[in-house]
Amino acid sequence: MIVAIDGPAGAGKSTVARAVAAALGFTYLDTGAMYRCAALARLRDGGSDIETLEIELAETVTLNGEDVSEEIRSAAVTEMASEVAAEPKVRAAMARRQQTMLASGDWVAEGRDIGTVIAPLAELKIFLTADANERARRRAEQTGRALDEVLAEQQQRDRRDGERELSPLVVADDAIELDTTALSADEVIASIVDLAMQRSESHSR
Ligand code: DC
Repeated sequence: MIVAIDGPAGAGKSTVARAVAAALGFTYLDTGAMYRCAALARLRDGGSDIETLEIELAETVTLNGEDVSEEIRSAAVTEMASEVAAEPKVRAAMARRQQTMLASGDWVAEGRDIGTVIAPLAELKIFLTADANERARRRAEQTGRALDEVLAEQQQRDRRDGERELSPLVVADDAIELDTTALSADEVIASIVDLAMQRSESHSR
């Protein structure tokens, strides 16, 4: 079974997706981390061949064998990730890898295009949103950076992720939209776990 969790930055996807996967006993797939690895490679050596990058996602994120879990969260990588994610070659390479992983087993996969492009047949699709100010407030709190800076960068990334030609951030027709602005992470996690259990029962009948 696949639970797809899409939505903009700061809507709480990572916290929620990780906890939902743990509660259901599914494997968690952070597709954003893959784009971040591609971005880090780009920043380091400009033109590395995307096909040859070895990206491993487990407790830690490794790029060509090196633990880059922290480095991929830097502001420079965050900015570059949104740029490389608009490139057809990068998206095609990442999509292929993601679809191979998702072909068997039970997954909670988070990203921007999981329910629309990567796993259009996912049994459960969630689109997490939150008010832009609240999303920026959360990110500023997490990173210790100034709120106005975070908000300005977020607006730029939202625009780029939403307006790009290839797999833009859009809500799948059959996705359930959850606005997390006024909800705690625990409330969001509990409702997605409930929905997943209902879907799994109806699919196994
Ligand atoms: O979720 P995140 O902030 O780690 O994502 C990093 C960047 O990658 C972000 O700009 C959006 C992009 N991304 C994407 O285009 N498609 C995905 N499935 C996941 C992330």
